Amino acid sequence: MVKIGTIELPEFPLLLAPMEDVSDPPFRRLCKEHGADLMYSEFISSEGLIRDAMKSRQKLDIFDYERPVGIQIFGGDEEAMAMSAKIVETVNPDLVDINFGCPVKKVVCKGAGAGVLKDIDLMVRLTKAVVNSTSLPVTVKTRLGWDEDSINIYEVAERLQDVGIKALTIHGRTRAQMYKGEADWEPIAKVKNNPRISIPIFGNGDIDSPEKALEYKNKYGLDGIMIGRAAIGYPWIFNEIKHFFATGEHLPAPTIEDRVKAASNHLTWSIDWKGERVGVVETRRHYTNYFKGIPHFKEYRQRMVTLDNPADVYAVLDEVLEKFSIVSQ
Ligand SMILES: Cc1cc2nc3c(=O)[nH]c(=O)nc-3n(C[C@H](O)[C@H](O)[C@H](O)COP(=O)(O)O)c2cc1C
Repeated sequence: MVKIGTIELPEFPLLLAPMEDVSDPPFRRLCKEHGADLMYSEFISSEGLIRDAMKSRQKLDIFDYERPVGIQIFGGDEEAMAMSAKIVETVNPDLVDINFGCPVKKVVCKGAGAGVLKDIDLMVRLTKAVVNSTSLPVTVKTRLGWDEDSINIYEVAERLQDVGIKALTIHGRTRAQMYKGEADWEPIAKVKNNPRISIPIFGNGDIDSPEKALEYKNKYGLDGIMIGRAAIGYPWIFNEIKHFFATGEHLPAPTIEDRVKAASNHLTWSIDWKGERVGVVETRRHYTNYFKGIPHFKEYRQRMVTLDNPADVYAVLDEVLEKFSIVSQ
């Protein structure tokens, strides 16, 4: 069993990564149903929360069936981070996570996200401010360092543990790498093997198959793994990995029926949560992923991403079911 503060997770848990514009309640519900053990919200701006920005506030929505679930915040100002942690606490998540990994310029420029990888003292102060302002377990997600000449994750891990974080997730890339190249998990394993480190260490970066998950589990000896992109349009990845760990065998691939059901649920739950117009528009970005690899799907996709009336989108999904389940039999 893995413990984050008082939260108990199964042995070698699979975490769903926080992903902006992706990890919202409808998507999280799908991942939960398919085996994610711990999930996070999209990152939320501490300044936005304090300003009471609608968009930031809406990201605080969590539901009991998602538990354990964490809310992720980011920011470069200690006071704002402390205040936003207090706001987060009011919605009673299981933990609060700090984002020190976002490589995007608009975040980094404000000294937030991966920006603090250049200033460990600031990172420690921001973390301390959050830990001191909440009774929730605080976790951190970060990268290896700013660039390959300044890999500082070893010092970062020790110092953040010392100010009270309860788990650390490390994406095996530097800020300079953005999403390029391959994630390097060796430094993550080195953090885990540091005898001074006692908190759970989760690895993140490029896990996209049961084989790779098992290989990395065995090779790096971490406490669990976090999965991001591979879960987009493919929430089945969590149970597929778990089954492979347990049996060495693959679960059957999702059928067309499974895919249609997932896409349809995603749309329904998005409409329930965001309202019809936004729900329809924001689910559009997911269809390609749900139906990846299906030949001659383009025409259907084209219709799904242009129709405004949910009933019409469901009708196309019905057509997809009819047409492609015959083909795949
Ligand atoms: C669309 C997208 C949005 C992301 N948003 C966030 C975010 O809000 N907070 C965060 O810590 N990381 C964010 N990330 C990074 C992921 O959490 C993860 O670290 C990264 O994708 C590597 O994992 P993967 O190879 O399994 O995708 C985002 C990644 C993607 C692709």
